[in-house]
Amino acid sequence: MTGSICGTGSYIPHYAMDNNAVADLVETSDEWIRERTGVIRRHIITEETTTSMAAEAGRRALEDAGLPAEEIDLILVATISSDALLPCTACEVQKTLGAVNATCFDLGGAACTGFVLAYNTAEAYLASGVYKTALIIGSESLSALTNWKDRGTCILFGDGAGAAVLKASEQRRYLPVTHSEGAKGEALVCKSRYDSNGLTKKCNECIPEEKYFIRMDGQAVFKFAVRKVPEVIEEVLEKNSLSKEDIDLYILHQANKRIVEAVAKRLGEPMEKFPVNVQEYGNTSSASIPILLDELNGAGKLKPGQKLLLAGFGAGLTWGASVLGTAET
Ligand code: UT7
Repeated sequence: MTGSICGTGSYIPHYAMDNNAVADLVETSDEWIRERTGVIRRHIITEETTTSMAAEAGRRALEDAGLPAEEIDLILVATISSDALLPCTACEVQKTLGAVNATCFDLGGAACTGFVLAYNTAEAYLASGVYKTALIIGSESLSALTNWKDRGTCILFGDGAGAAVLKASEQRRYLPVTHSEGAKGEALVCKSRYDSNGLTKKCNECIPEEKYFIRMDGQAVFKFAVRKVPEVIEEVLEKNSLSKEDIDLYILHQANKRIVEAVAKRLGEPMEKFPVNVQEYGNTSSASIPILLDELNGAGKLKPGQKLLLAGFGAGLTWGASVLGTAET
């Protein structure tokens, strides 16, 4: 038993912010951003929220799967930018969609590896027979965590949501490989906005505001990604007795076009097997893989019987790769 994807959906905020608009805020240029990241524009929330985007992406995925909301047993939302601590985003999605029979929880803090971990979690539930259907979502309003005065980060990130519906199936099960290295976590941090208890700890006033935004040692994260992602891809292939030739598409977290290119080069695989859409959305953390999946699905590029390899990497530091087969019917 495993969990097979039988529907996808996404939601992209209406407001598209191009590189020139970013260059109005910090000292940078359209040319620099394109060359160093591949990003041309990103979409930024206006009236949307992390919850509303998650719910709409989820609704579209259910529609694509042809499944009524009441038939969903599990809703997982991967996000580092939830609108509230309580209730969790997954419960809010349940309420909006009327998925009254679902168990719901968020995977917070897993950041850019979040969707891969959500897939692994849901797949394990389905494979073990606990649940039969799952809705997994990555949704991010990174614009709220971005320091729009820091050119090292604000050029990169964007907002959006993507979702996939999984159904228990008799297809072959592939085991994932995941890693974490907390000792290197300083490379990508964002302090909690709730670090005072109002009783024994002083309130936030003494802490510089910048700490509440994402801070990143871009070069360190870049080097980590181009080394560890090819390694974990090789590991997951070996674990499942697969070769690179068996993989039809590598769906990588869209952090930076140069990272995807470097991974393809290290693996000796053609770029045609590595779809890229960072140019349109920027880096949307946990949402980037399901947005890409939905784009490929919408374009008719996901065919029955394909093997897809998902790979995520980011804050923690965390990284991992999973193989899944597309539905065979
Ligand atoms: O989502 C998962 C986690 N995140 C990532 O995977 C992101 C990984 N890192 C990156 O994508 C890249 O490191 C960045 C896009 C963030 C930065 O690109 P880079 O090629 O690593 O730039 P850099 O920090 O090495 O800076 C190169 C030069 C420096 O100038 P000098 O010292 O060579 O004169 C910087 O001061 O570019 C300068 N620079 C900029 N110039 C114009 C840095 N940021 C900018 C900028 N605009 N926005």
